[in-house]
Amino acid sequence: MKTVNVAIIGHKFMGKAHSNAWANINKFFDAPLKPVLKVACGRDEKGTREFADTWGWQDVETDWRKVVERKDVDIIDISTPTDLHAEIAVAAAQAGKQIFCEKPVAVSYAQARQMYEAAEKAGVVHYLNHNYRRVPAISYAKKLIEEGKLGRIYHWRGAYLQDWIMDPGFPLTWHLQKKHAGAGPHFDLGSHSVDLARYLVGDIAEVTAMTSRFIEKRPLPGAGAGTFSAGAAGKESGEVTVEDAAFMVARFEKGALGSFETSRFAGGRKNFNTFEIYGSKGSIAFNLERLNELQYLSLEDDGDQQGFRTIMVTNATHPYVGAWWPPGHIIGYEHEFHHAVLDFLKAVDGKGKVEPNLLDGMREMQVLEAALQSAETGRAVKVSDVK
Ligand SMILES: NC(=O)c1ccc[n+]([C@@H]2O[C@H](COP(=O)([O-])OP(=O)(O)OC[C@H]3O[C@@H](n4cnc5c(N)ncnc54)[C@H](O)[C@@H]3O)[C@@H](O)[C@H]2O)c1
Repeated sequence: MKTVNVAIIGHKFMGKAHSNAWANINKFFDAPLKPVLKVACGRDEKGTREFADTWGWQDVETDWRKVVERKDVDIIDISTPTDLHAEIAVAAAQAGKQIFCEKPVAVSYAQARQMYEAAEKAGVVHYLNHNYRRVPAISYAKKLIEEGKLGRIYHWRGAYLQDWIMDPGFPLTWHLQKKHAGAGPHFDLGSHSVDLARYLVGDIAEVTAMTSRFIEKRPLPGAGAGTFSAGAAGKESGEVTVEDAAFMVARFEKGALGSFETSRFAGGRKNFNTFEIYGSKGSIAFNLERLNELQYLSLEDDGDQQGFRTIMVTNATHPYVGAWWPPGHIIGYEHEFHHAVLDFLKAVDGKGKVEPNLLDGMREMQVLEAALQSAETGRAVKVSDVK
């Protein structure tokens, strides 16, 4: 079987989720290439070595530039904090590597554009990891929409809510610093919601938004602090420079109206990525915390017994799930990453395209930045006005 050499930069939350998919993809799917886990890169050698040993990465590096320059690496997997994505992606493209990049694509629209242009100039395959597109229930929702089951779409109602930083003692990790994250939940969670809205409903023309910060200062992070992990809090404190919640309303290019709520201060909501889509012929609703299920209502069927039905999206005929378990034997969060890796490998093998990619990243950053401008000025902002 043809192999392809992968290097991963960043080895914590996403590092683990991606490694699992690179390592196991060929066990479940008939992928055209077999990934070889060549190099893992992180800042501390000991932690990176432990990670590499656990997941089967052959080598360890502490300098990402050396990784990008290696002749024996074909794919660069970017799983670092967001501010590093652009520099790594541009260098990877210039070195002719295929790019598998975490979201949000970058800390600004300008960076996202640079990344897209560099990847296109180099002619490399580029993928942006909005893994939720490949939750089978969401891929299936796309199919229903394409079949016209919802008719003309009137509304998108999205909410992506978490609560992991509500404790004021939670440290000032990179997620809470504008220079590293670009923005707060609006970028982190909102990028996923905007990607799903663009995927299922279409492009967004205009937005209005409000943001709020509830906690101004937090202890500096100590050892072990990261995504969802407080680690050991430091003694000194620093300023939070991103919003804690953002609400955005949007007009889609085809006329639908949308609302997007993002917050990390929604007590009890752990990874509550939900959306509802209302159309002239039907509606759908999805909640990631019950990811095997899709709620569907047909306005044309069922007479006065009409109501939302729950479709268990676990049949072999549904997208991706046939490769896993028999119907009803449900799948979870980690499976989405396999689906992403599968489609990415197909594109790498066939020198084709995969979506979402850095072009989608650029477009969604334009929407997200337009919303930040709106929050600052109190006015609606046209997405195309963000340059
Ligand atoms: N697709 C998703 O649903 C999803 C979920 C969580 C995070 N993310 C995204 O993935 C990216 C990483 O997030 P995470 O949660 O894994 O963060 P994390 O804090 O858990 O891990 C970040 C990793 O990057 C490494 N790193 C930082 N600076 C580095 C450098 N200069 N050189 C090499 N390695 C460096 C750190 O050592 C660490 O291993 C972010 O862009 C985030 O938005 C995506």
